[in-house]
Amino acid sequence: GNGRPRGPKGLDFTAVAPNREDRIVTPEGYHNSVVIRWGDPVLPGAPAFDFDNQTAAAQAKQFGFNNDFCGLVPFGHDRWLMVSNHEYTTESAMFKGFSQANPTEEQVKIGWAAHGLSVVVVERERRTGKLLPKLDRRYNRRITVTSEFEVDGPAAGSAFLRTSADPTGRKVFGTLNNCAGGVTPWGTILSGEENFNQYFANAGSVTDPVVKTRLTRYGLAGAASTRKWENFDRRFDVAKEPNEVNRFGWIVEVDPLEPGSKPVKHTALGRFKHEGATIQIARNGKVVAYLGDDERFDYVYKYVSKERYRPGDSPAARAHNKKLLSDGTLYVAQFTGDSPATEFDGTGKLPTDGEFDGSGKWIPLASGDKSFVDGFTAEEVYVFTRLAADKVGATKMDRPEDVQPNPVNGRIYAALTNNTDRGKPGKEGPTEINPRNGNKHGHILEWEESRGDHTALTFSWKLLLVCGDPATADTYFGGYDKTQVSPISCPDNVAFDRHGNLWISTDGNALGSNDGLFVVPVSGRYRGYLKQFLTVPLGAETCGPVIEDDFILVSVQHPGELDGASADNPLTHWPDGGTAQPRPAVAAIWKSGCRIGE
Ligand code: FEO
Ligand code: CA
Ligand code: CA
Ligand code: CA
Repeated sequence: GNGRPRGPKGLDFTAVAPNREDRIVTPEGYHNSVVIRWGDPVLPGAPAFDFDNQTAAAQAKQFGFNNDFCGLVPFGHDRWLMVSNHEYTTESAMFKGFSQANPTEEQVKIGWAAHGLSVVVVERERRTGKLLPKLDRRYNRRITVTSEFEVDGPAAGSAFLRTSADPTGRKVFGTLNNCAGGVTPWGTILSGEENFNQYFANAGSVTDPVVKTRLTRYGLAGAASTRKWENFDRRFDVAKEPNEVNRFGWIVEVDPLEPGSKPVKHTALGRFKHEGATIQIARNGKVVAYLGDDERFDYVYKYVSKERYRPGDSPAARAHNKKLLSDGTLYVAQFTGDSPATEFDGTGKLPTDGEFDGSGKWIPLASGDKSFVDGFTAEEVYVFTRLAADKVGATKMDRPEDVQPNPVNGRIYAALTNNTDRGKPGKEGPTEINPRNGNKHGHILEWEESRGDHTALTFSWKLLLVCGDPATADTYFGGYDKTQVSPISCPDNVAFDRHGNLWISTDGNALGSNDGLFVVPVSGRYRGYLKQFLTVPLGAETCGPVIEDDFILVSVQHPGELDGASADNPLTHWPDGGTAQPRPAVAAIWKSGCRIGE
């Protein structure tokens, strides 16, 4: 509050204009600083980062590459356990003179160590407001492609998950392509294994038609993989170890408060290109997880636990709550529009009733050991979830990314990032919920479960935003005056502030400016009034936004990832400047003595 006229709560800043700057651009009055970068020490004894002399042993103790999701678990006053996903590696940006055709064993092992997750204690320095990483001997942790996971839930031990190294089907080494995630009410982190298919070679050599159909539906078809990991570990070769790939594509749970605990892969939440998972406790105490499968024409899911949440952080309550994702019912969403199908010609123009809206239902796929899908055992539903969902009439969406309940209004918001194949020959055409052909800029979906009950089997929905340049007719901003809003393209992650405003980060801005972070009110007369809060440096994606009352964290993923860029030819130098190589990082943004947006 500074005496200016009252506007929407939490939006009292001047919107950042689209730009192509090689820095973080924020509204006037805001500071930003790097919390931690690729290569910074996480574990005690980690050497300082040395770009020209990297080793796998060093990387295993340092912050990994391309941090995506970021989550904070409170850990004392002005102190948190910060958990970051390291989604993927780009070796050509990590090593000078890198040979994609023939990586060295050490380079591959650095890649393994640069994947996974980091847990880092962070503290706010009172004098400066900066968030600083601490080398905490007990709680800091690295999880990589060689860390042991326990498989949990109804498909644990399934024949589909057994390999020559693990005949039990219950013990997996590593996690891959961890994209988005969520912090649970019991203080653990959920993380989605997304594009795991890219790590596995030689799926094209499989001849068994049933296995082939399954592999193809999960995007596995080729010969050698890009990273050539199969040259150094046979489990990445589908021809040699056909079930290893079935051990990825899950939601994993990590308990940062118990640093000795084994991370878990939850089979009850199904297997697909999991963007992430976010939790809502329903009125009856059951726990609901909302899930997106980030692929063109793939689905939105939810899971409802069998058991109820137990409040409190006693060891008994936490142990109970950590089993809530082990047994429940998995559903897939079917959306129906309320306007005549003839009104959707792919141009994105509003239907005559003035809203992209309608109703929907949750179709059960499996519950515990019981399958609801003809021709599928429960195990097959969990391990080959996409094929089961194909059978029941689920709605093909424009790449579901984050799906997250709003703690203020109880409605659920999903980022549908884009789908350039919508309406192409042989592909599904426009519908009320995915109304644009060749959807370049994506949209934001909002729904409300019937009676506000998150376990309900029916819901009503609306599109909140149809993204793009507000000056064009094919965009929609919740009915708000489009001359007042910021352009936005390719929404990816969502979060909420204490007012219930929706925060959106973007990946791959198809309007040509840098990616960024936006905020939009979702109710009242300012619904749809979208403002850009920041932009990230050239070539970077904004992800993992953490919205606290008085600071924001963003993951600056793949800075400098531009056409023609490599470690031999870096086209940006964020965050270190000068001639330094770009480094993915977590950045904090704050305003001295003020809450965000006030
Ligand atoms: Fe890794 Fe769906 O973004
Ligand atoms: Ca309508
Ligand atoms: Ca994402
Ligand atoms: Ca992304």
